[in-house]
Amino acid sequence: MAKLVISGPNKLEGEVLISGAKNSALAIIVAAAMAPEESVLINVPRNLDVFFMTKILEELGVKVWFDGDGLHVDGSTLSSHQVPYNLARRMRASFYVAGLLLARLGVAEVPLPGGCALGSRPVDYHIKGFQNLGAQISIEHGYMKAQAASLSGCKNYINRSSVGTTVNLMLAASTAEGTTILENPAKEPEVVDLAICLNSMGARIRGAGTDVIRIDGVKRLRGTEHTIIPDRIEAGTYALAAAITQGRVLLRNVVTDHLRAPLLKLEEAGAIISEGPNELEIAVPQRMQAVDLETAAYPGFPTDLQQPFMAMLTLAEGTSVIRETIFDRFRFVDELRRMGADLKVERDTAIVRGVSGLTGAPVEATDLRAGAALVLAGMAAEGTTEVGGVEMIDRGYERLEEKLRALGAKISREGDEKDPEELARELDYLCP
Ligand code: UD1
Repeated sequence: MAKLVISGPNKLEGEVLISGAKNSALAIIVAAAMAPEESVLINVPRNLDVFFMTKILEELGVKVWFDGDGLHVDGSTLSSHQVPYNLARRMRASFYVAGLLLARLGVAEVPLPGGCALGSRPVDYHIKGFQNLGAQISIEHGYMKAQAASLSGCKNYINRSSVGTTVNLMLAASTAEGTTILENPAKEPEVVDLAICLNSMGARIRGAGTDVIRIDGVKRLRGTEHTIIPDRIEAGTYALAAAITQGRVLLRNVVTDHLRAPLLKLEEAGAIISEGPNELEIAVPQRMQAVDLETAAYPGFPTDLQQPFMAMLTLAEGTSVIRETIFDRFRFVDELRRMGADLKVERDTAIVRGVSGLTGAPVEATDLRAGAALVLAGMAAEGTTEVGGVEMIDRGYERLEEKLRALGAKISREGDEKDPEELARELDYLCP
């Protein structure tokens, strides 16, 4: 398997173009298949998760193809309601097709995602929501089997502002009869992006990004052209790469408003941040300072940036306390310890005592954001770091090493050089 080899320490300088948001794209590619017509999606990142989602849709009969800047999705040929286990098990977001299939075909057979490297990952909130919309659900042999002659608008309270549940119910309810109310929905920018896309297809969704979403069901949706928002997690990762290497990086194609919590924490830790229209510069002239943080649903501090932030704090001056409230995302701390980090974990809390230096080591990316965190640590460490499990990183970062190299990082990919399709055939994972 491939690995990323980093020769540190590096100091990142220059500018980087941020790709389209993975989590937005995953939901919107499925949304595009809600119309029995062709849609074109612009700014779709070319990463493994997106690739898997396109494969799942193809299995269902949907036509999906890249052409220049656009990903074309033609839902007119959607014919199958059965999602194959070998594809769905690789990615939790595959469960989004349940909303699509219920809305379009009135029947869905979708494998339950099960657990993953981030711990137990139930879909009980999704299932409850589908039942509220009138679907009959049974769990058989690891599959959710759902059926509904028609879906009817309803009131739902979404526990823990779940992103996936909000997405799935927005899909299913957009063509249900009557009005659906989602109370306590996720307010993530990706949910707002999905609502904008669905509305451009003829849906009537109001309140995305607020505490209540109201969906007035329409008879059918039509094709659209939609541009995916910039990836705030990728942007945050490059901001943290600048911070951990005490560099200066200009991020282009960013929505700074989507990054408020991480940027405030970066400033608190000593970064100098300047904002321009759709761009952001992070300069770190001296050693970062320890800060405490707690992950929360948007607009709180994103769990997806917790691990890269932790990597940065291992080198900050003082002791930081990190509380992870969403997922079990501390499993990778042993890898950081192997590089010399001083970390202690008790249940959902990590105590990070800043050290004066990290040393390069062979480490393993156990999940997507852990992989990014280890690459960051490797760029700041003295000597050679080899990050194994690169396919985890490829799930959510488009051309990571190429972008980092353009910023001055000494990073290369070694081992099997595979294109995403080849990699996809070999991979076996499941994560958010
Ligand atoms: C999405 C993102 C992921 C991000 C996460 C939180 C995508 C593809 N993935 O994941 O990158 O880290 O939001 O911002 O967009 N839960 C249940 N039952 C359910 C659903 C969720 O108990 O039916 C729990 C989860 O275990 C978790 C919390 O609710 O503790 C929030 O999860 P959720 O927002 O649903 O995350 P995902 O949509 O899976």
